[in-house]
Amino acid sequence: MPAAIDTGLSQAERTDVAGELTKVLADSYAVYLKTHGYHWNVRGPEFFSFHNLLEQQYRDVWNAVDTIAERIRALGVLAPQSYSAFGNLTSIKDGDPEKDAIPMLTELMHDHETLIATARTAFEAASTAGDEASADLMTQRLAAHEKFAWMLRSTLGGR
Ligand SMILES: [Fe+2]
Repeated sequence: MPAAIDTGLSQAERTDVAGELTKVLADSYAVYLKTHGYHWNVRGPEFFSFHNLLEQQYRDVWNAVDTIAERIRALGVLAPQSYSAFGNLTSIKDGDPEKDAIPMLTELMHDHETLIATARTAFEAASTAGDEASADLMTQRLAAHEKFAWMLRSTLGGR
């Protein structure tokens, strides 16, 4: 008989929050994959600054993917782990290595905005359920992705 989960959250609350975290995980994985790919394939006179900016961002998102997946497990739900599972869950489209540098950065900026919206929905679900740990994690991810969106936006000449 497997051990019961007694962490103060009901099964319905845990399932609901984990479902929203799973969408954040899938969007994060997709943003990680695209950012790392653009780190490799970006081209032009600004190569080194773009290459380094994207490395800083993909490293953060890669670490976050593990933290989010382990939070889903702590809620008693299995984490997705295949490309097809992530592909079905995410709303982020695949990157295109043929793109020029500015369209790559513009696309990533919008992807961070998409991920911010997904994380905000997960934050609200966690708050409603009284799941402080998941709400705290989503607060951290919101701050990170808003920062990355700002850095990309400013690199593109915006505020
Ligand atoms: Fe690299």
